[in-house]
Amino acid sequence: MKVAVVGCGNVSANHFEALELTDGVEITAVADIDGEKARKWAEKTGSRAYTDYDEMLANEELDAVHIATPHYLHTPMAVKALKKGINVFLEKPCSVTAEEADELIKAQTESGKQVGICFQNRYNTSSIIVKEVIDSGFYGKVTDVRAFVTWSRGKDYYSDGWHGRADKECGGVLINQAIHTIDLVQYFAGGCRSLSAHVFNDHLKGVIDVEDTGVIRMLTGSGALAVVYATTAYGENAPVMIEVKLEKTTLRIEGDMLYRLDGDYGFDVICTNSSESTVGKSYWGTGHKAIIRDFYDCLKTGRKFAIDAYEGAKAAKIVAACYDYDKKEIMK
Ligand SMILES: NC(=O)c1ccc[n+]([C@@H]2O[C@H](COP(=O)([O-])OP(=O)(O)OC[C@H]3O[C@@H](n4cnc5c(N)ncnc54)[C@H](O)[C@@H]3O)[C@@H](O)[C@H]2O)c1
Repeated sequence: MKVAVVGCGNVSANHFEALELTDGVEITAVADIDGEKARKWAEKTGSRAYTDYDEMLANEELDAVHIATPHYLHTPMAVKALKKGINVFLEKPCSVTAEEADELIKAQTESGKQVGICFQNRYNTSSIIVKEVIDSGFYGKVTDVRAFVTWSRGKDYYSDGWHGRADKECGGVLINQAIHTIDLVQYFAGGCRSLSAHVFNDHLKGVIDVEDTGVIRMLTGSGALAVVYATTAYGENAPVMIEVKLEKTTLRIEGDMLYRLDGDYGFDVICTNSSESTVGKSYWGTGHKAIIRDFYDCLKTGRKFAIDAYEGAKAAKIVAACYDYDKKEIMK
């Protein structure tokens, strides 16, 4: 299969690594408006370099394109590829508004092609076990979920021209860092029926025009309440915590560990996630290889990829609803 990558920045290294490890895949083109980055990756992968995405789509015969550009470009670039009959593997968030998410879903349906949204943390062993335990019903229904993303991002992080900008990142901690956790919360608890949310920017006023902190309270599809607290104004990148309370036990993911809590003090370690090395930042996890391998297995076999535009849009729509600052019925 002939594959291209657009956006040759930080996270693209995870995509290139995973693609090199996937059988039957040949990287034939890369694109970045920064010609030096495009040339660097074209040389490394033995592919053709472009500085213009449209030109790449016009000149190349592609089976799939990976999109790892700033957020405001995701849906427009994905829709262009789908209209040309190209499968799309798209970094999160798939879309920056609910309307855009619907546009992407429509383009997926009309094209008959596959779309994969990069929620790689769903492939962590801890996430797989929590979902299986919930679905088994063995410990009863989910009653409550709480999650914390407490990370640190300083001025330097926002100096690249798109992070921290309302027109390009299209949000702050919720749409960028916490969206993986928001996705897992809604995945574990049966989607989001309604929510209330508050967003703040106290830490980097004058530096960023998006939120550095967000608090969400969701009524989930399963009837459980979920609260999420996310901030990039903490002093360090603490392990992400997601705690799922069921009628008969409590499961807690904390960093790479999954625990089962009983009573007030006791806990069992259920598993630790893969400790395999990754070219990316440690807090991105190691799931890019697993999700990209699965995406290409779907393309080869015709199996439907689970985190498609519709599934990936659930978290994007939750974030969009949070930015509306008030309660909304969002689960269809
Ligand atoms: N799944 C994860 O865990 C994870 C981790 C990090 C980043 N991301 C996501 O990946 C995406 C990229 O993030 P990043 O950290 O690599 O950012 P980055 O700034 O390092 O890379 C973005 C690249 O896109 C290029 N670009 C910008 N406009 C373009 C255009 N019109 N055409 C072609 N190229 C263009 C930039 O020159 C840059 O090289 C974002 O959506 C981000 O949220 C996901």
